[in-house]
Amino acid sequence: MSLALGTSATLLVASLTAPALAADPPPKADPQRGAELMQKQMSQMTPELVERAKALSPEIKQFLMHVALRHERRSDTLTLVQVMQEILADYQTIGAAIATDNGAMAADAARRLALHRLPRGGMLPYLPFDKVTDEGLSVLPAMEVAVEGNATKLAEAAEQGDMIGAANYYGAVTTGCVACHNHFRGQPGATAYTPRLRK
Ligand code: HEC
Repeated sequence: MSLALGTSATLLVASLTAPALAADPPPKADPQRGAELMQKQMSQMTPELVERAKALSPEIKQFLMHVALRHERRSDTLTLVQVMQEILADYQTIGAAIATDNGAMAADAARRLALHRLPRGGMLPYLPFDKVTDEGLSVLPAMEVAVEGNATKLAEAAEQGDMIGAANYYGAVTTGCVACHNHFRGQPGATAYTPRLRK
C-alpha cells in the first residue's frame, strides 16, 4: 500500500517538474556554515538517526545542507507538524488573496511559504525511518521545485496582477503538498509516536 502510494507520488512529481532540478539557482555555497547547521541538526537527533544521516550519499547531504542554508528561519523548539500548520496558514492566505484579486497579499504569503521555517533537528526526525535512505530522500529536490519553485513563480505572477497565472501555480503547489504527503507522511500524526529527536 505505502509502496504504491510512494510510486504514484514519485511519478506525479516527475511529470510535474522535469526538467528543472531546483527551485532557483543554488545560493552561493557557504560550506562551513552549511556544515555547522548540519552538525547542529545532528546534535538534536537520536544516535540511531545520526547513524542513518551519516550514511547518506554526498549528493543528498549536499541537498540537505542547501535546504538548511536557504531557509534562514530555523526553530530550536517547533516540530514539523507546527511548521506545516504555519505553511497551511500561508497556503490558505494565498487562496483567499487570489480569490479577492489581492496580488500583494498573495505574493507576501507565497514568499513566506517558499522560505518557510525549519523545525527542530531539520526534516529527517519527522520522516519514516525507512525513508531516511538515498532512495527515499531522492524525491526531495522535486518536492522543492513543486512547492517552493511554484510558490515563487506564483508570487511573481500575483505581483504583476496575473491572477489566472497565480491560480494555476496555486494548483501546482497543491500537487506538491499532496505528492510529498503521499511519499512521506503516511497516517497523519503518526510520527508523534516515534520520536527521533533528543529530549
Ligand atoms: C517535503 C515534504 C512535504 C511537503 C512538500 C509538504 N509537506 Fe506537509 N507534511 C509532511 C510530513 C512528513 C508531515 C507529517 C509530519 C509529522 O507527522 O511529524 C506533514 C504534515 C502536514 C500537516 C499536519 C497535519 C497532517 O495532515 O499531517 C499539514 C497541515 C501539512 N503537512 C500541510 C502542508 C501543505 C499545505 C503543503 C503544501 C503547501 C505541504 N504540507 C507540503 C511533508 C511535506
